Amino acid sequence: MNVRILKHELIKIAPKSVLRGYKLWKIMKVPAYRSPDLPESIFENCRVVSNRDKLLELLPSGGKVAEIGVEYGRFSKNIIRINRPVEYYGFDIDFSKVDPSVQTNDVCRVTLKEGDSPQLLKEFPDEFFDWIYIDGDHSYDGVKADIEAAKQKVKRGGFLVFNDFAHIVWASYSTFGVHCAVTEFLKKDEWPVRYWAYEQNALYDIVVERPRGE
Ligand SMILES: C[S@@+](CC[C@H](N)C(=O)[O-])C[C@H]1O[C@@H](n2cnc3c(N)ncnc32)[C@H](O)[C@@H]1O
Repeated sequence: MNVRILKHELIKIAPKSVLRGYKLWKIMKVPAYRSPDLPESIFENCRVVSNRDKLLELLPSGGKVAEIGVEYGRFSKNIIRINRPVEYYGFDIDFSKVDPSVQTNDVCRVTLKEGDSPQLLKEFPDEFFDWIYIDGDHSYDGVKADIEAAKQKVKRGGFLVFNDFAHIVWASYSTFGVHCAVTEFLKKDEWPVRYWAYEQNALYDIVVERPRGE
């Protein structure tokens, strides 16, 4: 069994006290996750918006869209309603919670693929998706693996969108590797940041564009 699937299964069955201890231990490790500084040039055309639904209004309509991490399918329904993709692909390690109505919309073809997202993305040709919403495994290694798999699968001029662009959220004792993994990617590959969506718990969304020349 894949290590990430095993971790997901253990978290599901762990008693709350064990889970809280695990979360605190992860927070203590966080200072090691220091994000790099970034060049001004990648923010030159960045627009800040009030929330992630507003972001959807600015992302392309139609086309092929993927969402990594579907859970109940709440945001999937917003993507389908607002962006009206021709094809929507949802990836999740576990679809037991998903609302079945996600699959029965009258807007687009929906494909749900169960498994570890970096492995699932490998099944698609390069430049297949218009944009990919990344909201699956939020650990540093998990996001890095999603970035590596997703960056070739999105078209030139297409977008990678990262939810929970954060380090730590004290209210839920949660740690996120998203900030560090994404900023390291931006430092190295210099994809421009196009949108940034505010969120009350500082769980921002950030949208980066694949350069047309790459
Ligand atoms: C925060 S939820 C997604 C919420 C959804 N995008 C929304 O906004 O309504 C994260 C989901 O990612 C899934 N997940 C975690 N690790 C994953 C992995 N390695 N591959 C695919 N899905 C994963 C979890 O099962 C969970 O359903």
